Amino acid sequence: MPESIVRVAVLVSGGGSNLGALLKAQRQDALGPARVVSVISSRRDAYALQRAADHGIPHLAIERKEFSDDAAFESAMIQALEEAKVQVIALAGYLRKLGPTLIARYRGRILNIHPALLPKYGGAGMYGRYVHEAVIAAGETESGCTVHVVDEEFDHGPVLAQSRVAIEPHQTPEELAARVLEEEHQLFPKTLAEFCSRLITPQENPR
Ligand code: GRF
Repeated sequence: MPESIVRVAVLVSGGGSNLGALLKAQRQDALGPARVVSVISSRRDAYALQRAADHGIPHLAIERKEFSDDAAFESAMIQALEEAKVQVIALAGYLRKLGPTLIARYRGRILNIHPALLPKYGGAGMYGRYVHEAVIAAGETESGCTVHVVDEEFDHGPVLAQSRVAIEPHQTPEELAARVLEEEHQLFPKTLAEFCSRLITPQENPR
């Protein structure tokens, strides 16, 4: 019997509006076979943890500063994921780089959402308002968001889906950020649902 659900951990660091969109979709039965079974924050004070609590989802903070080195931190992350029997990881505003052992363990099953049209405006330092400031400073006429599979490089790895938004004349970075975020809240649940469906649906063998 194929498994009918896919156990997902959502990793967060901040406000967690994307987490909120995923949990709302799950409530409305619009997340396909994906089930958020764990929320892990890199910061104890992240509002995303409150959102998880409000939805009755198990949640915890694992902060790097509680560990003596990267390896011990990564082991704690892997242990938490394994205890929750996590099959897929969704990065929703998670600001720490994942360790190589964790990435290898979940290779091809870690998704990230980025607030730009990758491969443009990604990489180290390209997060939050810096992304939208750079997009506007470059005179772009469109931006958007990207869901991609995570590999060892920041904001790199196969693109699964993108949404585009037009940039209006004189639009501020804050306005663009808000517009892109609206798209993120549609794109991430939809893409995660489709990704998890493909995981449990046997692929046809091309002959
Ligand atoms: C989003 O813009 C996402 O694309 C990026 O971090 C931000 C997280 O926002 N990776 P939120 O915490 O989901 O509100």
